[in-house]
Amino acid sequence: MIQEQITDNVFHRVLRQKWEQISHGQGVYLFDTKEQRYLDACAGVHVVSIGHGVREIVDAMAEQAAKVCFTYGRFITQPQIDLAHQIAALTPGDLNRVFFVSGGSEATESAMKMARKYHIETGNPKKYKVISRWQSWHGNTIGALSMSGRTPWRDDYVPYLLNFPHIPQPYCYRCDYQQTYPKCQLSCANELERIIRQEGSEYISAFIAEPILGTSAAGVTPPADYYPTIREICDKYNILMIVDEVVTGFGRTGRNFGIEHWDVVPDIMSVGKGLSSGYTPIAATIADEKIYDAIYEGSTSFVHGHTYGGNPLSCAVALAVQKYIESHDLVAQCARMGKLMLEQLMPLQNLPIVGEVRGKGLLIGIEFVSDQEGRTPFDPAQGVTGMIVNSIFEKGVLVMPGAPGSVDGISGDHIAVSPPFIITEPEVDQIVVAIKDSIVEVSAQLGY
Ligand SMILES: Cc1ncc(COP(=O)(O)O)c(C=O)c1O
Repeated sequence: MIQEQITDNVFHRVLRQKWEQISHGQGVYLFDTKEQRYLDACAGVHVVSIGHGVREIVDAMAEQAAKVCFTYGRFITQPQIDLAHQIAALTPGDLNRVFFVSGGSEATESAMKMARKYHIETGNPKKYKVISRWQSWHGNTIGALSMSGRTPWRDDYVPYLLNFPHIPQPYCYRCDYQQTYPKCQLSCANELERIIRQEGSEYISAFIAEPILGTSAAGVTPPADYYPTIREICDKYNILMIVDEVVTGFGRTGRNFGIEHWDVVPDIMSVGKGLSSGYTPIAATIADEKIYDAIYEGSTSFVHGHTYGGNPLSCAVALAVQKYIESHDLVAQCARMGKLMLEQLMPLQNLPIVGEVRGKGLLIGIEFVSDQEGRTPFDPAQGVTGMIVNSIFEKGVLVMPGAPGSVDGISGDHIAVSPPFIITEPEVDQIVVAIKDSIVEVSAQLGY
């Protein structure tokens, strides 16, 4: 054994980290086995929207478990029917067909295949490439990772990745074209058209994007005409628009779905995280009727699927969560608390190492820079994100370390703040104070 600290048989993602053991959760709090309490200001990883330990969900889980937990093949169950109906009622336009899977990566991977299937059925079998954006995140399976633009997480697996094009982010604070909105005339959106023409539109199946960035550059929100422009370009070249709502779906940005802030209807949506608020692993790919119709009229089967997709237990739990969000008006509460939190965090931009505070609803990002004027990122070797997250952690508050490389795939420091929608005003105050004090402390350590 070379590991001095080995205490369990788990194959951890980060092997030399000290893992705290959680015993239970209640509301916005997690408790470890030493009764230490943590304010979960990132909802795990933008997941736990309704809070931990909600009795109604546990009851729904037990009720379904007593009936049946798993079916397959020719069977469908009432929870699956009801959940699909509930989701279709929430989604905009004709996004009415719900394909269930178990996690976000499966949902985006399924979206990729669904888009390809649509083009095969409608007589365009050459279309297969998905265009995406740098600094985006769509998951860890090979198709999802091929679409993702997070360089450090792609690096080890590049030999396996598909040859999919990426365009720049609509990241106004760090415009890749060194321009300013609206004078830029949306160079970042128009790059989509240029790349479609360059690659050949006959090969392009879809474009995928997170409406508001979740984990790679948290809270980055494109300008008002960005998605309408993207929609137009997709339509012009018969390219499906996939919106990855795994983070933003089910209320996180103060609307049911992030894309609704732009009044644009995509052809496919992937959802996960907030669908069940973490009470069970479940995710879904939601298709426009025209996609379902094309398969229905054509080969009649979508040759894809996973063992646990649509299992009755997960569907019953997710349905109970969605009913809970609805009956407690939690999307409106998220919008209200998000506005309050953003207002309180904005003044942090006066601190010397804070570059930008941004976001919508309860999906907020804070970016750090070594020089505000030049917007210069820190040297990644300094580990500034880790220093700040650890300092906030020592104050009993959990925030998410932003993924490395948010600026150019190598440098960039930021954190994400995304508490459950049930967060109260005093808890917002506590989070803001912990973040502010930690930034001040770390700034001093860095010599500011
Ligand atoms: C926008 C987005 N899409 C997809 C995924 C992948 O989801 P999962 O980790 O559940 O596979 C994530 C995960 O963080 C995500 O943020």
